[in-house]
Amino acid sequence: MARKAEPPVPAEMLPRHVAIIMDGNGRWAKKRGLPRSAGHVQGGLIFRKILRYAREIGIEYISFYAFSTENWNRPDDEVHGLMNLMRKYLKDIYGFFDERVRFILLGDRGGFEQDISDMFTDVEAKTGSFEKMTAGIAANYGSRREITHAVQEIAALVRDGKVDPADITEEMIGQHLYTREMPDVDLLIRPGGEQRISNFLLWQSAYAEFYFCDTLWPDFNPKEFDKAIIEYAKRTRRFGAV
Ligand code: IPE
Ligand code: IPE
Ligand code: MG
Repeated sequence: MARKAEPPVPAEMLPRHVAIIMDGNGRWAKKRGLPRSAGHVQGGLIFRKILRYAREIGIEYISFYAFSTENWNRPDDEVHGLMNLMRKYLKDIYGFFDERVRFILLGDRGGFEQDISDMFTDVEAKTGSFEKMTAGIAANYGSRREITHAVQEIAALVRDGKVDPADITEEMIGQHLYTREMPDVDLLIRPGGEQRISNFLLWQSAYAEFYFCDTLWPDFNPKEFDKAIIEYAKRTRRFGAV
């Protein structure tokens, strides 16, 4: 059996929750004179590679930004291709249950075609007790939509007399987000050269460390992931204290 990968820093210095904005697929393809879809295919392979690597080095929680609420505005054929890739990767998950990774959809499942939405529900149910790592797949995800949805749920509780507005806490809001079963983000990685958050995990990243790199997502690899972890381990997190 292949030797287990060692983390690049002592285990106690690893971030608990790493979030990744998988960006740069289109530019990667363009540079090679290929259609954007080729970049998404390669990006999918990297997703699988980093998922496996993160698990091996002992990351407990990882979230991948796969498709935003704004990405529906792309041309139909690109959206269609991305949905087919999503189908493929959801199917693939059934082939590695022995890795004991729990999957959670972060996003509004109502926006997908029925078979995709059903697959997410099934994968969540079948991997729900897996303890090796938890992976959030942010698909049809937008932080503002997520927070709006939480506000709607809490408002309904207030309307029904179950919650007093004065009793609404940050914890309660957190419990109405898709990430309710995950801790806050410690490290947010964005490859692809852009330095912005693009509506990803705004609430959960309140005190996250940010790591941006120019490498396009399809060229990302475990070494680059290590670099982000090493940089994270050097940072001093103060959380507003001194
Ligand atoms: C990220 O790569 C994949 C998705 C947003 C689905 P892009 O498709 O945004 O690639 P660039 O940013 O155009 O290079
Ligand atoms: C963010 O990338 C969304 C995903 C990676 C899924 P985008 O390419 O959509 O973000 P912008 O448009 O550059 O902000
Ligand atoms: Mg992009």
